[in-house]
Amino acid sequence: MYNFDEIIDRRGKNSAKWDDRFIGTGKEELLPFWVADTDFAAPKEVQEALRACVEHNLYGYSLPPKGCAGAVAKWQKKRHGFLIKEEWVEFTAGIDSALSAAVCAFTQPGEGILIQTPVYSPFFETIEQNGRKVLENPMIIKDGKYVPDFDDFEKKAQNARVWMFCNPQNPTGRCFTKEELERFAGICLKNDMLMVSDEIHGDIVFDGRIHIPMASLSDKICAKTVTCTSPSKTFSVAGLAASAIIIGDEKLRNRFRAEKEKRCINTGIPGLTAMEAAYTFGDGYADELLSYLQKNRDYALNYFKERIPKIHAFVPEGTFLLWLDCTSLMLSGRQLETFFTSSGVKLSMGSAYKDKTETYARMNFACPKALLKEGLSRIEKGVLRQI
Ligand SMILES: Cc1ncc(COP(=O)(O)O)c(C=O)c1O
Repeated sequence: MYNFDEIIDRRGKNSAKWDDRFIGTGKEELLPFWVADTDFAAPKEVQEALRACVEHNLYGYSLPPKGCAGAVAKWQKKRHGFLIKEEWVEFTAGIDSALSAAVCAFTQPGEGILIQTPVYSPFFETIEQNGRKVLENPMIIKDGKYVPDFDDFEKKAQNARVWMFCNPQNPTGRCFTKEELERFAGICLKNDMLMVSDEIHGDIVFDGRIHIPMASLSDKICAKTVTCTSPSKTFSVAGLAASAIIIGDEKLRNRFRAEKEKRCINTGIPGLTAMEAAYTFGDGYADELLSYLQKNRDYALNYFKERIPKIHAFVPEGTFLLWLDCTSLMLSGRQLETFFTSSGVKLSMGSAYKDKTETYARMNFACPKALLKEGLSRIEKGVLRQI
């Protein structure tokens, strides 16, 4: 049994989320619900593996542990029914570095990359900073739920080389259904596009769902898909910067590897040691985490509905992120940020996900329940002061 109620003080420990440059100090200090990592201790086995690694007292050049790719393969099979070969796995220093390498490996400057919006903001940055063109395919809100606009996708696919997406989706929390994934893939195959599927949140899906890796749908789809996975969200190891990129097609894998080498993207031994331990021993932890997160999710959803109805929370099917529509507060993006900070909390602001969501915010609920309750109560009081 893991104790996810334990409050671990992360201040002064170089945590981005809890750093005083972002949340202040003393009476002014904000409670952080922004950066997407959890406030939970990593599994015991991960801690022990890292301790053994540290106690060796010698940290020279290293190779990936022999069992690491096998552990990735076993995890994908067991948790997501995705059958892969060990040689399909490439390691990178986090998923952002893999997305950037993929953009350059598989497209030429000026070529179009399709993305759904709203989306994790580095998608825009990595495309634009590498001189490629963002083609936006905004999702539609239908019956209170974000759904893809396939007509628009199909039109824009004609000018795109790659579709880059995350599933489960950050920030909306959508888990694309098998039908939706198949429809997307059909359009991509028809237009000879590659699919870069960021599945970093794949372990965290609710209400009995099973995450469906895009590449698991068929051999044809697998041959056109780059799957980005990582233990970082599930096992609280994001700071170790190690991810596993799964590419079934040998030619694509070689192109990706060449780009990775050109950019000298390497991982350190602690990150891969933690990855192997997490994927080998992490089942029980992941199950308990999911059940804890689902309770936090339901508590927060109910709280917004009952006590802060001016803020509408979308139901996340996966991820530990609540996407909040704050339009009814009648504040501009900047005023909304000030509203949250003057209420005593720090959230991720919707403006980062594109202009039309500037009256939105994203709240990370992967924290001990007591902190979540306190954060929600601060937001509630802030709204009451506003009226
Ligand atoms: C969808 C998505 N992709 C990638 C990342 C970052 O991954 P990494 O820390 O492995 O670079 C995040 C982190 O929030 C994310 O939400």
